[in-house]
Amino acid sequence: MEYNHNEISAIAEMKISVFFMKVKNICCIGAGYVGGPTMAIIAQKSPEINVTVVDINEKRIAAWNDPDVEKIPIYEPGLSEVVAEARGRNLFFSTDVDAAIDAADMIFISVNTPTKTYGIGKGMAADLKYIELCARQIARVAKNDKIIVEKSTLPVRTAEALKRILDNTGNGVNFQILSNPEFLAEGTAVTDLHKPDRVLIGGDLDTEAGREAIQALVDVYGHWVSDDNILTTNVWSSELSKLTANAFLAQRVSSINAMSELCEVTEADVQEVAKAIGMDSRIGPKFLKASVGFGGSCFQKDILNLVYIAKSFGLNEVADYWEQVILMNDHQKRRFAAKIVKTLFNTVSGKKIALLGWAFKKDTNDTRESAAIYVADYLLNEQAEIVVYDPKVTQEQILADLDYLGTRSEEENRKLISVVNSAQEACEAAHAVAVMTEWDAFKTLDWEAIYEGMLKPAFLFDGRRLLDKEALTAIGFEFYAIGS
Ligand code: UDX
Ligand code: UDX
Repeated sequence: MEYNHNEISAIAEMKISVFFMKVKNICCIGAGYVGGPTMAIIAQKSPEINVTVVDINEKRIAAWNDPDVEKIPIYEPGLSEVVAEARGRNLFFSTDVDAAIDAADMIFISVNTPTKTYGIGKGMAADLKYIELCARQIARVAKNDKIIVEKSTLPVRTAEALKRILDNTGNGVNFQILSNPEFLAEGTAVTDLHKPDRVLIGGDLDTEAGREAIQALVDVYGHWVSDDNILTTNVWSSELSKLTANAFLAQRVSSINAMSELCEVTEADVQEVAKAIGMDSRIGPKFLKASVGFGGSCFQKDILNLVYIAKSFGLNEVADYWEQVILMNDHQKRRFAAKIVKTLFNTVSGKKIALLGWAFKKDTNDTRESAAIYVADYLLNEQAEIVVYDPKVTQEQILADLDYLGTRSEEENRKLISVVNSAQEACEAAHAVAVMTEWDAFKTLDWEAIYEGMLKPAFLFDGRRLLDKEALTAIGFEFYAIGS
């Protein structure tokens, strides 16, 4: 029997349609802050889908498999309960990447895409080497058609590069590439995943196979997200939306932080200003909290990426506009540290300064790009002795963060900084205390006892607008808060 060209296409499309209709096995490459929680929720909500999360980091996978579910490697409120429910039922963690790729109909790529530290685009562009390694591994292993989902935040048009690698090195199997950026925020990942403002899926809307692939992923989220909250776009809009969302959010923080400095030299209070503008429904109240500076793995990286893309298209004004958000953030961190030095009679040399909090925000043990790292580094350059307490961050991590900056030798870092197990202990005999992370527990510390144990005058710097100025001043603290 002979078929004409159109009939062959139709048959090919039918084959794809049948294949893509129902996803039974999902694999996710990368068991990090994004891959781990996202897959745990998909497994929890879709009991008939087997979800295997793989990672090359054996220690991380072993921790995800720890019989004591409280020991999973990522701290997120509510996550251990979800893992306890699904792990071993339809949620698996493994280092056997090939086997998981082979078994999967749908593969999420959730590996890290750090800012490049070498070559062209150094310090700005996203390093895509892990993404490319994943694509090559998938191409090598895959024996049947697969849907590939970009979960990692990527520069616009990465999907195209992925497709070319897959199509040119694969074994002739069909790949559909989708972009499904993650909007969860750390510390609230479980709630954000359970009740997302929107799920964004970018795919090839122009072909039947592309639309089928999109539908397959819509069906996965459809287990718990209503259709109204699932948005489908072309791949490039989806990729760019992720960078844009993070750039807008970071820009709000830098904007209010810029106003915080102005408030400090006038009689205004940034919290009052934020409230007043936030009640304008066009502006809205969220993301207007002045702070010692935003951190986290995404904001800075994504904006740098945006700046790099704009520059590479010759859009210098666009690039400069967004770069200013980062410059303002760097300024805010430096300004806070400089304020400490200035207030302590222009020298912190040999003085003990307690930093409360090291995580980039509360309710997470993640420290990537945390303002605390840069403030500590600044104060160490001024020869301060730093003592840190964070309820969830380990000493090993704190030292690794400082060593990574490469400002001084590892021995020196270990000489100048110590990490303790309680806030009270950190503040004992300190000249100053600085609140770096807005952990709720810091609000209810026994501040009177802390005051008693400190050298006088006892300085308290609130980098998060967390504490009650009146109460602390009444105790006797010399109190400074960002933006007032
Ligand atoms: C990462 C990216 O940083 C972010 O841009 C994206 O939006 C989502 O994925 P996150 O999950 O926070 O975010 O990263 P991380 O916690 O570093 O986890 C990535 C994991 O991928 C690591 O555990 C790493 O070992 C693993 N990995 C990396 C692989 O399994 N294979 C690789 O080739 C590279
Ligand atoms: C962010 C995005 O919110 C999320 O959608 C995306 O998927 C990943 O990046 P995350 O970095 O986890 O999430 O935390 P986020 O709550 O956005 O906070 C980022 C930083 O901004 C933190 O350091 C936080 O303390 C700071 N921040 C946030 C402020 O200083 N003020 C605010 O009003 C809000």
